[in-house]
Amino acid sequence: FAKERLALRYGAHLRRDPLCRLHLSEGRRDPYPIYEEVRARGPLSRSTAKLWVSASHDICGQVLRDRRFGVQMRAEDQRSGSPQLSFLEMDPPEHTRLRRFVMPTFSPKAVASFDGQITEIVTGLLDAVPAEGRFDLVAGYAAPMPIAVITRLLGIPDANSAEFQRYGATFGSALGGLQSLKHARELFEAQRQLRRIFIDLCELRRTEPGDDVISRMVAAPDTQVGPDDLVPLCTLLLIAGFETTVNLIGNTVLALLERPEAWRRVAEDPSLVDAAVEETLRFDPPVQRTARVAREDVELGGLRVAAGDVIITMIGGTGRDPQVVDRPDEFDLDRSHRDHLAFSAGLHYCVGAPLAKLEATIAVRELIARFPDLTIDGPGRRRAGSLIRGLASLPVRIRRSR
Ligand code: HEM
Repeated sequence: FAKERLALRYGAHLRRDPLCRLHLSEGRRDPYPIYEEVRARGPLSRSTAKLWVSASHDICGQVLRDRRFGVQMRAEDQRSGSPQLSFLEMDPPEHTRLRRFVMPTFSPKAVASFDGQITEIVTGLLDAVPAEGRFDLVAGYAAPMPIAVITRLLGIPDANSAEFQRYGATFGSALGGLQSLKHARELFEAQRQLRRIFIDLCELRRTEPGDDVISRMVAAPDTQVGPDDLVPLCTLLLIAGFETTVNLIGNTVLALLERPEAWRRVAEDPSLVDAAVEETLRFDPPVQRTARVAREDVELGGLRVAAGDVIITMIGGTGRDPQVVDRPDEFDLDRSHRDHLAFSAGLHYCVGAPLAKLEATIAVRELIARFPDLTIDGPGRRRAGSLIRGLASLPVRIRRSR
C-alpha cells in the first residue's frame, strides 16, 4: 500500500514535470505547448531536484555562450579529458584541440565543394523512387541521403559501406532511447563493430591515404589528435551525420506539405527553399534540447544557480519565444528573423551546420523540382524519444508529373 501511494504521488509529480511530459506521447506528438508552459513559469525555473529548465531564447542563448557553464558533469572527466568522450562532451582545453582539428573539413568553403557530390547522391535516390504511387519519404529519401554523404566524407570504402551503414543506423537509433533488451544487445554489438571498422580504417589510411577526414586525422601529429581520440571523433561525426539532417529534411518537407500554399510557392520559386529550411530550424528543429552545468555560482535572470547545477536549455522552445518572434506558432516563409538556436551557440555551436543546411537545401530543392505534385498519403510516424524530433516514416504520393 505504501508503495502504491508512493507510486501515485510520484506519478502525479512526474505528470506535472515538463521534462517527463516531453518523454510521454503527448510531448513526442507536440512538445510546443509544454515549452509554452515552461515559459509561463518564468524565463528560468526549477524542474525536478537540481535541474533548471528554460525555454527562453534570451536565457538559453546566454547560458550556451557563457564560459561559466560547461558540458562536463563529472569532475573526474574534467580532470582527465576522458578519451571515451567525444568533444561534444568536453570542456576546454581538450575541446578546443579537437574542435580546431575538424573545423577546416566543415568550413563553409570546404562544404560548398561537396555540392556536386550531394546533388549526385540526391539524384541517384530520386531516380530510384517509383515514377507514380506511394513511397516513404524518410526511408526512401531523407534518411539514406545524409548517411551516404557522411560515408563518403569519412572515406568508408565501398566494400564496407553497407555494413557501416547498418551498424551506424542501429547505433544512431539509440539516441532516441533504448526500446528493449534486444535493442540494447544490438546497440552493444553495433558499437563493437563500428569500433572495429574505424580502427581498421585508420590503419588502412595510414598506408593508403585518401582525401577524407580520417586520412587527415591519422597523418596529424599526436599533439593534435592522438590514437585515443580517433574512435570517439569518428563516432561523433557518424551520429551527427546519421541522426540529425534526416530530420531537418523530413521536418521541412512535412511543414511544406501540410501547408499546400507554402509548398506551391516553393515549387514555383526554388530560391525560397533556403527560407523554408531556416524557418524549419526555428519552428520545428531536429535537436530539441541540450544541457549545461554551472562551473561556479551564477546569477541568472535574477536567480542564483549554484555551482554543479544543471540547466536544460530547451532549444525547441526558444524558436517559439514570443519575446523574440512574432506569431511564433506560424510557419512563415517571409520571416527575416533568423537568430535561432537550432545549432546551439557559443563554444559547441554545431560544426556541421553549413553541411547540414547545404544537404537539406539540395534535398528539398531537388525533391520539389522532381515531384511538384507530391502530397501526404496517410499519417506519418514520429521517432521514439524526445531529444531528437523528426519522423520515422512519412508516406507520400506521387502523381504522374505534368
Ligand atoms: C554539435 C545540431 C548536423 C557535427 C551540435 C549541437 C547542436 C547540433 C544543437 C550542439 C549541442 C550542444 O551545444 O550541446 C545539429 C543539427 C543538425 C546537425 C540540428 C542537422 C540539421 C550535423 C552534421 C555534422 C554535425 C551533419 C557533421 C557531420 C557536429 C559536431 C558537434 C555538433 C562535431 C560538436 C561541436 C562541439 O562540441 O564543439 N549539433 N547538428 N552536426 N554537431 Fe551538429
